[in-house]
Amino acid sequence: MDAYRIIGGRKLQGTVAVSGSKNTALPIMAASLLVDGPVHLTNVPDVVDVSTLAAVLGRLGVAVERSEVDDERRSRMRLLADHNAQHVAPNHLVSRMRASFCVLGPLLARRGRAVVALPGGCNLGDRPVDLHLKGLAALGAEIQIQRGYVVARAKRLRGAEIQLAGVHGSTVTGTANVMMAATLAEGTTTIRGAAVEPEVVELGRYLSQLGANIEGMGTPTISVRGVSRLSGTNYEIAPDRIETATLLLAAAITGGDVTVTSARPDHLESVLKLFRTFGAEVSHDESALRLRMPQRPRPFHFVAEPYPGIPTDLQPLMLALSCIADGSSTIEDRVFPVRWRHAGELRRMGVHVHVDRCHSTIDGVERLVGAAVRSMDLRGGAALVLAGLAAQGETVVTNVAHIDRGYERFAQKLGHLGADIERVAVNSEYREPSHPTTRSRQVRERLADA
Ligand code: EPU
Repeated sequence: MDAYRIIGGRKLQGTVAVSGSKNTALPIMAASLLVDGPVHLTNVPDVVDVSTLAAVLGRLGVAVERSEVDDERRSRMRLLADHNAQHVAPNHLVSRMRASFCVLGPLLARRGRAVVALPGGCNLGDRPVDLHLKGLAALGAEIQIQRGYVVARAKRLRGAEIQLAGVHGSTVTGTANVMMAATLAEGTTTIRGAAVEPEVVELGRYLSQLGANIEGMGTPTISVRGVSRLSGTNYEIAPDRIETATLLLAAAITGGDVTVTSARPDHLESVLKLFRTFGAEVSHDESALRLRMPQRPRPFHFVAEPYPGIPTDLQPLMLALSCIADGSSTIEDRVFPVRWRHAGELRRMGVHVHVDRCHSTIDGVERLVGAAVRSMDLRGGAALVLAGLAAQGETVVTNVAHIDRGYERFAQKLGHLGADIERVAVNSEYREPSHPTTRSRQVRERLADA
C-alpha cells in the first residue's frame, strides 16, 4: 500500500547505472527447468517479478539462491533444478505474473508433463496464450484445459514447423516458451513469425551456451535442433532497455541532463531516433547514453510496434512526456491496443487526452499540476511518476507495488538524479495532496477583483 510523494519541478541531472533486464531474466530463470546441474546468473534485477518467479520455480523443485550484491550492486543467482519434483504451477502464483507461464514449455520438455494455471486477462487488456499452446501442441504435446489449468503431457516432444505470429504480430514469451521446449525435442523445430526482441535473442544465446542448437535468433525464422541434455553455465543478464529509456525520459520531461551507464544503446535505435524528433539531444558510446533537453518538447507522433519499432512498454512513458509538449501529439499502440489506463490518471493532472480504440491524441499543456493518482500497471505507474516530476506542486502516486514489479530502486535512482521523491506508507495518517477548496477559490476571486 505504499505511495510515492513527489514534488515536481526539479531538473534531473547526473549519471545513473541501469539494472539488468527483467524481461530477459524471467525466461532465462524459467529455462533452469531444462538444465542438469546448476546455473549462475549475474545482473538479475532485484524486482518483485523476479521474486515471484523464484517462488514459482521453488514450487517446481528449483533451488533458487540469491547472493549478496557485488561492488557494482549487481546481484547473483544460482538455480538448481530437481527434476523429480512436482510439476504444478499454482494459480495463486501464476496469476500474480503472466511471465510465469514460461515454465510450461521447459517443464513439458524435461519432465514430460506440466500443470500450469492459465493466466487470466490483465491490466493491458485481453492477453490470450493461444499461440503458446498452438506451438507446444505442434511439438506433439497433448493439451487440455481443466478447471483453469493447462494440463499438458508429452513422452518426448518432436520437432515441427510452427507459425507463431498472430493478429498483433508475434509473441515474445510465446516464442520463448516454444524455443525452450524445442531445445530438448527430437529433431528440428522451425519457428516462423518468431519475435525478434532482444530478450528473445538473449534467451537464445543463453540456451546455446547451455548446449542447445539454435539458429536465426533475431530473425523471424528460428531453427532449433533438439539435443538430449543441457548443462549448467554462467550468464550475465543484459541491461534493461525499457528502464534505460525510462531514465532518459525522466531527464526529458524535467528539462534535465542525464547519463545512463551499463546500458545497451544498440537495443534502442528507433527509440533514440524518436527522442530526437521531440528535440532531445542524445549521444552515446557503446555502453552509456546521455540525454539533454534544452527546451519544451515538440509534439510527436509514433506507433508502438514489435521490435525494432518503438516498444509498447514505452507508450505510457511517452504519453506522459507528450502531456507537456508544445502542441498535439498522437500515439497508436498496435501491440496492446487498449493499454490506456494511465491516460485517465494523467487527465487528473490537467491535460486533455482523447483515446479512440488504439489511438490517442494528447494536447500538451505548459505545466502539469500535481494530483493524487493511482498506478494501474507497471509502465503506467512509472509514467505517472515521470509526470509528477514535471508537475507543479505535489503528486502522490499510489499503488506503487506495480512499479516494484519491474523497476529496481526506482525512487532511489531518481532521487540520486535530484528528484524530490519519497516513498510513504499509505495508512490512516495518509494525507492526500492539498485539493482546491471553495474558500481558496473565493480568495483568488477577491484578489482578482482587487
Ligand atoms: N498474443 C496473442 N496470443 C498469444 C500471445 C500473445 O494473441 O498466445 C498477443 C497479445 O495479446 C498482444 C501481442 O500478441 O497483443 C503481443 O504479446 P506478447 O505475447 O508478445 O507479450 P508477452 O510476451 O506476454 C512481453 C513482455 C511485456 C511486453 C510485451 C510486448 C515479458 C515478461 N513481458 O509480454 O512486458 O509488453 O512482451 O513487447 O517479456 C512489461 O515489462 O511491462 C511488459 C508488459
